[in-house]
Amino acid sequence: MKIPCLIVFSIALLSMLLFSDAARSDALVGGWSPIKDVNDPHIAEIANYAVTEYDKRSGAKLKLLSVVKGQTQVVAGTNYRLVLETTNGSATKNYRAVTNTLGKSKISRFGPGGLHTIYQATMKIPCLIVFSIALLSMLLFSDAARSDALVGGWSPIKDVNDPHIAEIANYAVTEYDKRSGAKLKLLSVVKGQTQVVAGTNYRLVLETTNGSATKNYRAVVWEKPWIHFRNLTSFDPLLT
Ligand SMILES: *[C@@H]1O[C@H](CO)[C@@H](O)[C@H](O)[C@H]1NC(C)=O
Ligand SMILES: *[C@@H]1O[C@H](CO)[C@@H](O)[C@H](O)[C@H]1NC(C)=O
Ligand SMILES: *[C@@H]1O[C@H](CO)[C@@H](O)[C@H](O)[C@H]1NC(C)=O
Repeated sequence: MKIPCLIVFSIALLSMLLFSDAARSDALVGGWSPIKDVNDPHIAEIANYAVTEYDKRSGAKLKLLSVVKGQTQVVAGTNYRLVLETTNGSATKNYRAVTNTLGKSKISRFGPGGLHTIYQATMKIPCLIVFSIALLSMLLFSDAARSDALVGGWSPIKDVNDPHIAEIANYAVTEYDKRSGAKLKLLSVVKGQTQVVAGTNYRLVLETTNGSATKNYRAVVWEKPWIHFRNLTSFDPLLT
């Protein structure tokens, strides 16, 4: 009854990723679990999104008939909350930016300071995510108390000159300029905090029709409800 090294290593690694106060590591990925109720309204919403998005991208005119089966996977990313000193060429101004990363994707909100953005970020986490995080923690650590650490709070960034923090800060300013038409330049990262958050990958087998024939596809949708982010990662025809 030896626990394989791999498991011990994984748990140690996960613990480090989740509880290190730097929390700046790359995405944490868990295993796939079967979806018990494919008729769940949220699953239907994800499935409809996948087909609609595929139609939009490919020009196909598929319609969803049913969700045959599916699996979900909890993945964790990091929220970065940074205070950025910027200049528009003549004046300097501080902004608070909130950026989320998971793997290579980044999503950003950018506000002229104030607490509003912060509380939006922490309070918009729906029950599903809180539940997923609690479940993940329970599975990983069999210790309900630990879930607080995971759901919980923001940890200060010790080294604001860390190259990865600089990258996040530059991304936030560039993205803000792109969206707003401003021409801000980053002067420095004043301070910042990070927070680990969990999202979900959905892998669904979808039965569709183009009007004359039915065909099954495997769709993967990645959802991060706390920032209202959803993306169709893949949509491939299944043989049979
Ligand atoms: C820079 O910002 C200041 C203060 O908000 C503003 O008065 C000034 O017109 C801006 N300059 C440029 C070049 O946008
Ligand atoms: C539907 O798909 C079938 C099989 O792929 C194809 O033969 C048929 O032309 C398609 N019909 C329409 C309306 O696209
Ligand atoms: C969404 O997924 C597609 C396909 O994998 C990818 O090309 C695109 O960059 C993704 N978009 C975001 C915002 O992650």
